[in-house]
Amino acid sequence: MARRIPTAVLISGQGSNLQALIEAARSSEFPAVIALVISNRPDAYGIVRATDAGIPVQVLDHTQYASREAFDAALDDILVAHGIELVCLAGFMRILSDGFVGEWSGRLVNIHPSLLPAYKGLNTHARVLEAGEKQHGATVHWVTSELDSGAIIAQEAFDLVATDTVETLQARTGEVERRLYPAALQKVAAAL
Ligand code: GRF
Repeated sequence: MARRIPTAVLISGQGSNLQALIEAARSSEFPAVIALVISNRPDAYGIVRATDAGIPVQVLDHTQYASREAFDAALDDILVAHGIELVCLAGFMRILSDGFVGEWSGRLVNIHPSLLPAYKGLNTHARVLEAGEKQHGATVHWVTSELDSGAIIAQEAFDLVATDTVETLQARTGEVERRLYPAALQKVAAAL
């Protein structure tokens, strides 16, 4: 079978998307291996998930770096040292510098809780409710220097119901994400 692409997942929090990627990549048929998890927050629950799965974890606390560029340079060094070829952002709550994004262009993907190009940025569920949208969903896309704007790899929508709240939209979007991200990673890794 074809070579499996060494992949890093970058997190800041819960890591439910990370968990979905870990589970998908357990299969030896999956075209990516989750070889490294990096968290910028020492208390991210996703660290526990990675450790439980036996995946190496690096904590890179952004508060210990003087600048965004210094943090991103350290991030790049770790990725290169681990032979990483593909990077998945999964709830990684930091803007990456243009230099880093350029360096990893074509090998850096993100998942976003909206139907991009609609609702870039934060608080997507509340904004979707406020606007009275009929549909919501999630998008996996290539990362470019413009926030949440790179080419779309995969997207899945669902219809809102009258009883939806921020909490139900978060749960419903999360369910979509945990299906969408592994499928998108499979597609991207198989094509590398
Ligand atoms: C997800 O909704 C993702 O789309 C967004 O942040 C959330 C992360 O959740 N970027 P988790 O850490 O994967 O549970």
